[in-house]
Order: sequence, then structure tokens, then C-alpha cells
Amino acid sequence: MSRPPSIDPNCIAVFTGAGISAESGLKTFRGSDGLWENFRIEEVATPEGWARDPAKVLAFYNARRRGVAAAQPNAAHQAIARLEERFRVIVITQNIDDLHERAGSTEVIHLHGTIVQARSSIDHHYRTDYPLDGLSLDDRCPLGGALRPNVVWFGEAVENLEIAAKHLAMAGRVLVIGTSLTVFPAAGLVSAASFGAEKTIVAQELDHCPRGYRFLRGKAGEIVPTLVRQWLSTRSP
Ligand code: OAD
Repeated sequence: MSRPPSIDPNCIAVFTGAGISAESGLKTFRGSDGLWENFRIEEVATPEGWARDPAKVLAFYNARRRGVAAAQPNAAHQAIARLEERFRVIVITQNIDDLHERAGSTEVIHLHGTIVQARSSIDHHYRTDYPLDGLSLDDRCPLGGALRPNVVWFGEAVENLEIAAKHLAMAGRVLVIGTSLTVFPAAGLVSAASFGAEKTIVAQELDHCPRGYRFLRGKAGEIVPTLVRQWLSTRSP
């Protein structure tokens, strides 16, 4: 039987969802006025929706692209980037924005793709920048396929799951921020954290706190900088 990997006290895994970008002005998905209150998932975030009405899908993601371009990293993104002064920090995000990268985090793993890139609908290897003024149905890859956002839709395979689980299992501290933990398989990653790791979850609301985690209820932009200050000034667990 193989031995479980030992945890690295100098490594922090940060697992984020839409709530961390809420204070940057980007809407979350669930809850009152969440994106899924105003758009139907099956119409704008599935391969079937794309096949049925690609113009509607592009209109939805063009608006997301514009929103991300106008947004700035907030105090929570910046605090996470600051942790790298003292720790190895792996950010695992469900978000399609690039606010972690723009805050200065250097190891960011996207599970649901990124809206700053477009990709070909027929050639999975073809990637290009997502234009700030939006994609149109006339935008094509060299093989002639329509360009679509480089995001993961419902029914498509989540990216980087295995490597994300590996990092979570090895981290001495796991910090989960701003996710309702309702979309699988990504949400299941919280249970990849080691029994011996210090595990914290920050969110405004949470239906169910995963086993072994302490729940800090409130805004990421207020709670995370305080936590990071503590971690930067104290010894490793
Ligand atoms: P949700 O919208 O499901 O959940 C957002 C979470 O953030 C909730 O728990 C809120 O209480 C919390 N929250 C809101 N504002 C916050 C703040 N200022 N500070 C801290 N917490 C706050 O978003 P996700 O869990 O990220 O997938 O959604 C998961 C996936 O569902 C997304 O990646 C997307 C979506 O459908 C795909 O599109 C494939």
C-alpha cells in the first residue's frame, strides 16, 4: 500500500469561487441577482445551447469579457498574492476571470477555463485572445471553425482536476473562498485536503460547511487580508 503524501507546512492551497470577485464588481452565479437568476444555464453555458443559438452564447460571454476587463483585483486577491512573500501558494480557481493573475499570484490553476481566451470550436488546440470588443460569429480559427470562449460548459470536462487535488492534498493550509460548493466535480476538491492541514472557508453564506473546515462568515475583502496578515506574522502550523 502506498503511503499518503506528507503535507508541506510552507505550502498554502487557495481554492476560490465567484464570491472572491464579487467585491470587484463581478456577479456571482447563485443567490438573489446572481447570473443564473437572469440567464438559463442550458441556453448559455452548455454545448447544446451553443449548437442551438451561438449568437446568444456569445452575447452572454462578451458581456462577461467586458466586465472582467473593467474589474480590478480587490483586497482579497491582493492579500493572497502577498502570501507568496513567505509561502508557496497554489491558487485553484473555478473563476474564469484573471483577477488572481493581475493581483500578482504566480501559480494559478483554472478549473473552468478563462474568459481572457477564445478557442476554436473544432480544434481544441487553437487558442487566441478573447477580443475586448467581443467575439462575433464571423470570427474563425485557421481551419474555419467558429471561435468560442475558452471556458468549460456544463457537460464538458473540468480541467486540471488531478493536479489541483494533488496540491490540495499536500498543502499545510487550505483556504477556500467565495464558493457555494454546489458545482461538481470542482466542489468535491475540498475533501482532497489532508486531515492534518489547517482548513478554513470564507463565504458570506454557506449551506453546509465541509468536514474539518472552520467557517468564517463574511466578505472576502475584509476577512482574507486579516487572515493573511496573521499567517505572514506567525510561525507555520
Ligand atoms: P456561487 O455563485 O455558486 O457562490 C458564490 C459564493 O460566494 C456564495 O457562497 C456566496 O455566499 C459567496 N459570496 C458572495 N459574495 C461574497 C463576498 N464578498 N465575500 C465572500 N463570499 C462571498 O459561485 P461558485 O461557487 O464559484 O461554473 O460557482 C461555481 C460554478 O458555478 C462556477 O464556476 C460556474 C457556475 O455555474 C460554470 O460555469 C461551469
